[in-house]
Amino acid sequence: MKNVCLLGSTGSIGVSALEVIGRYPARFRVVALGAGRNVRLLSEQIARHKPEVVSVLDDDSALELKEIAGSSQGTTILTGREGYREIASIAGVDDVISAQVGAAGLLPTIAAIEAGKNIALANKETMVMAGQLVMELARTKGVRIIPVDSEHSAIFQCLAGYLPSAVRKIILTASGGPFFRMTYEQMEKVTVAEALRHPNWSMGRKITIDSATMMNKGLEVIEARWLFDVEFDRIEVIIHPQSVIHSLVEYEDNALMAQLGPPDMKIPIAYALSYPERIEATERKLLLTQTEPLEFFPPDGDSFPLLGLAYDAGRKGGTAPAVLNAANEIAVQAFLAEKISFTEISQVVAAVLDIHEARPAEKINDILTADGWARAAARKLIERIDHC
Ligand SMILES: NC(=O)c1ccc[n+]([C@@H]2O[C@H](COP(=O)([O-])OP(=O)(O)OC[C@H]3O[C@@H](n4cnc5c(N)ncnc54)[C@H](OP(=O)(O)O)[C@@H]3O)[C@@H](O)[C@H]2O)c1
Repeated sequence: MKNVCLLGSTGSIGVSALEVIGRYPARFRVVALGAGRNVRLLSEQIARHKPEVVSVLDDDSALELKEIAGSSQGTTILTGREGYREIASIAGVDDVISAQVGAAGLLPTIAAIEAGKNIALANKETMVMAGQLVMELARTKGVRIIPVDSEHSAIFQCLAGYLPSAVRKIILTASGGPFFRMTYEQMEKVTVAEALRHPNWSMGRKITIDSATMMNKGLEVIEARWLFDVEFDRIEVIIHPQSVIHSLVEYEDNALMAQLGPPDMKIPIAYALSYPERIEATERKLLLTQTEPLEFFPPDGDSFPLLGLAYDAGRKGGTAPAVLNAANEIAVQAFLAEKISFTEISQVVAAVLDIHEARPAEKINDILTADGWARAAARKLIERIDHC
């Protein structure tokens, strides 16, 4: 029996993770759940999975949860940063699924690693902000980090049994999102609803917008850099609109290893939880004879400038990736609130990176300081745009 803490239980990944866990009651037990403000869904999850403890974003959410769930279920309710830290490091938990969205995932994931928990990592922002420090900490603590992101899960699987020295490059596939083949100018007027219409994957709002701008792929490049210890010039992105191949590894002998499957996040979630075994998590199958022809295109850096900005920030290192991430989070929020246009997302991120003097990121505090600075800088720029 594996005891699990799930951070971000009310999100897209969180809900899928609970579906996987619910299929295997003899294999997994939910000990703790972390959510944000969706206390209605959390109360249903508490009734179904009976965790010992949950944590929500703030006191108001905790109060609302107590009113909905009542005190009879025997679940302790914690709040805020301290609450997430506590559930991520709670005694008796084996695996922590890190599935909060954005920078909020960083500190609880670090707390889990410090407490020696194995990590199923969906929260890519943790690796973007502090990949080097997090991987060093995981090594020191003997903790295993297994990626949940479908591309990184694919690479993890393609690397199994091979010598790292034989790897020539990692190839991350990208669907291209809803605006594949559009020019930058054509994207100036796209709406929030259009940007949220991803062709292949059903995901949370922030990552869906990141997929439309291709920032998601940029974040994944930085995530891959640290997860697999491969330099940026050996990480390539290729557009593959069918999302059948989830990513590839090219070896020294020109052999390519690819991982294929239906676009269903329950598959990589189940793999991260059951590794090295495999368990069935979905009825969806890839029927090769009914699959559309597979296509591949180079990414269009002019139309999707955030991909190049992510490579630049990653190569610069230090505090630059955390600044990239924070500015993007604020810009995406502003786009979703219809305060800025779609193309202004990349303009805000570029402008914030432009005025940032990257510093070495030796401690988590260096990263948190840069994150705070970038959020303030992005908000200031957005205010100016909003008043034009
Ligand atoms: N969705 C996918 O298919 C997918 C694929 C690969 C990687 N990922 C990565 O997985 C992570 C989660 O993505 P998602 O699509 O599941 O996101 P999502 O649907 O937006 O869910 C986010 C979760 O985080 C919680 N949350 C939001 N703000 C929080 C805060 N400040 N503090 C604590 N918790 C907070 C939310 O709580 P409430 O809703 O209760 O407020 C929710 O449980 C992201 O890093 C994403 O890049 C997702």
